[in-house]
Amino acid sequence: MRILVTGGCGFIGSGFLRYALAQEGVERVVNLDSLTYSGRLENVSELEGDARFRHVTGDITDAALVSKLMEEEDPTHVVNFAAESHVDRSLFAARCFVSTNIDGTLCLLEATRARQEATGKELRFLQISTDEVYGDLETDDGFFVETMPLDPRNPYSATKAGADLLALAFAKTHKLWLVVTRSSNNYGPRQFPEKLIPLMITNALEGKQLPVYGDGKNVRDWLWVDDNCAGVWAALVNGKPGEAYNLGGASERPNIDVVKGILAALDKPESLITYVKDRPGHDRRYAIDFSKAKRDLGFEPNMTFEDGLAKTVAWYRDNAEWWTALKGGSFADYYKEHYGKLGLKGD
Ligand code: NAD
Ligand code: TYD
Repeated sequence: MRILVTGGCGFIGSGFLRYALAQEGVERVVNLDSLTYSGRLENVSELEGDARFRHVTGDITDAALVSKLMEEEDPTHVVNFAAESHVDRSLFAARCFVSTNIDGTLCLLEATRARQEATGKELRFLQISTDEVYGDLETDDGFFVETMPLDPRNPYSATKAGADLLALAFAKTHKLWLVVTRSSNNYGPRQFPEKLIPLMITNALEGKQLPVYGDGKNVRDWLWVDDNCAGVWAALVNGKPGEAYNLGGASERPNIDVVKGILAALDKPESLITYVKDRPGHDRRYAIDFSKAKRDLGFEPNMTFEDGLAKTVAWYRDNAEWWTALKGGSFADYYKEHYGKLGLKGD
């Protein structure tokens, strides 16, 4: 297998690169990443010594670069992780979400179709989507299933739904071998410290306030990042073309329980919790039925949330040099502006 991965300097993509290089029969893994604020070369530095690995700094919207890479590397598989990935940023600055998540996906799909036509060989495409494309369950029961209509509620999930549908349309129209995975919220080491779990861990370590939106009772399902990578791999190898697969962690938790769990693991006081104004259009509950992936791909989340959270907390405690630099610079400006609007006083 020769795999072209996009977005491999990010949180999940870098986990997938490590996962793929550990699998049998993988001759080549090429990573195309434009190194946005969330793309970190240090996330892939340990792979640089592997002769099968190549990193290319570049944008997935750059059609000439993508087709040049297809010619140079002759991939057998494409896995598209590259995205603008943070809901809060999409609320007031959605342009780059449309560009990367929709235009970038289209560019990769076009290049894949052209390459397959030129070579006459199957080129498999896996689109990384999200459970957020289903919208909001709103109530305490029910689960997202793959047959539900997509009903995204914020600009991030709208662009991911656009890419998801575009990919499935290419599978039908152009007979591409293509599958989509829709996972729940991932957590684990190397997640950019703007997302709930790493933000709360690093703020607690710095003795800063922990900004909880609304009443803290919104529910997310948490999936250990390596379990997601295993599910993506299973979909790439054993998926049925034209299908979407939900990947979940069987770990639904209200946000406030997650935050309290982090404080307990760090032996920090709950007085650090600060309730702030709610995120506009905040989806109330995500929960995912992954029985299709279990049945057809043998997917199963292996990590319990309690063990995974303890490992994640330990990683951020032991790797402060990874995140302290990230919390300065442009992130500090974003943080001040965003949380200032939500009513967070001080830092
Ligand atoms: P991330 O923000 O950590 O990483 C995104 C990566 O994409 C970065 O390395 C960035 O540099 C790169 N990138 C962004 N724009 C690019 C462009 N135009 N060209 C090339 N590279 C570009 O995100 P993540 O959390 O690792 O998410 C990866 C994928 O998984 C995304 O598609 C996201 O929508 C999806 N997803 C994430 C979660 C989650 O909980 N994090 C859950 C479900 C689905
Ligand atoms: P996030 O990690 O941004 O993921 P998503 O919005 O894609 O689910 O947020 C997870 C949950 O945590 C979501 O309900 C919003 C909430 N949240 C807070 O309460 N405070 C915060 O500072 C952040 C970033 C998120």
